[in-house]
Amino acid sequence: MEFSEVLRHRRMVRAYRPDPVPDDVLRRVVRVIRRAPSAGFSQGHRLAVITAPDVRARIAAISEGPYVEAGLPAWISGAPVLIALGIREASYHERYQEPDKLDDGAEIPWPVPYWWFDSGALLSLLQLAATAEGLATGFFGPGDHTQFAEVHALTGFPAGVALAGILTLGYSAEDPAAPPSGSAGKRAKLPLEELITWRG
Ligand SMILES: Cc1cc2nc3c(=O)[nH]c(=O)nc-3n(C[C@H](O)[C@H](O)[C@H](O)COP(=O)(O)O)c2cc1C
Repeated sequence: MEFSEVLRHRRMVRAYRPDPVPDDVLRRVVRVIRRAPSAGFSQGHRLAVITAPDVRARIAAISEGPYVEAGLPAWISGAPVLIALGIREASYHERYQEPDKLDDGAEIPWPVPYWWFDSGALLSLLQLAATAEGLATGFFGPGDHTQFAEVHALTGFPAGVALAGILTLGYSAEDPAAPPSGSAGKRAKLPLEELITWRG
């Protein structure tokens, strides 16, 4: 698939067919983690790839209710794969205490918490890799602090890895001609002039 086509097809999908994702395809998608940018190449990204039906069902039971109540399909329980995006913040502090990263002998003050930023960059790479494989993806935050903690406990992440959110992965059951299912279907795209400042 041409890259421009991949970009055009990337969207958050909230309805999946039950077909499983072949193991080799799934592995090709998740291995983009090694291509994801990270501040100082700290490599704090972590993923938990969840295919076990019971674990997926438990995550869906925590997070899916509001979507179904709003009239959307059961897209979290319906996705054959859930991928938890995790971040190990300590990797950043460790890296920025290495000699080439010290700022006047100390770790930088982190004006931006780049570990969360890097998780978003990985999200985009995963979406693009999945789209290029003919797959569809969605993303959700599990809910409030309690729901985040409950879902986090189901990911199997080792201690010290925080949860940024969950990617849904599978084959789309959405009509590609239909308007987007979430917020993108309710709000107009802002004009480029508002989004981009040019200082030529
Ligand atoms: C950080 C982040 C959090 C999001 N959280 C949710 C969410 O909890 N539930 C959901 O249905 N979509 C969520 N989305 C998807 C956005 O609603 C979606 O990206 C946006 O409406 C644009 O649509 P598109 O990605 O299909 O172009 C999230 C997206 C991002 C980047």
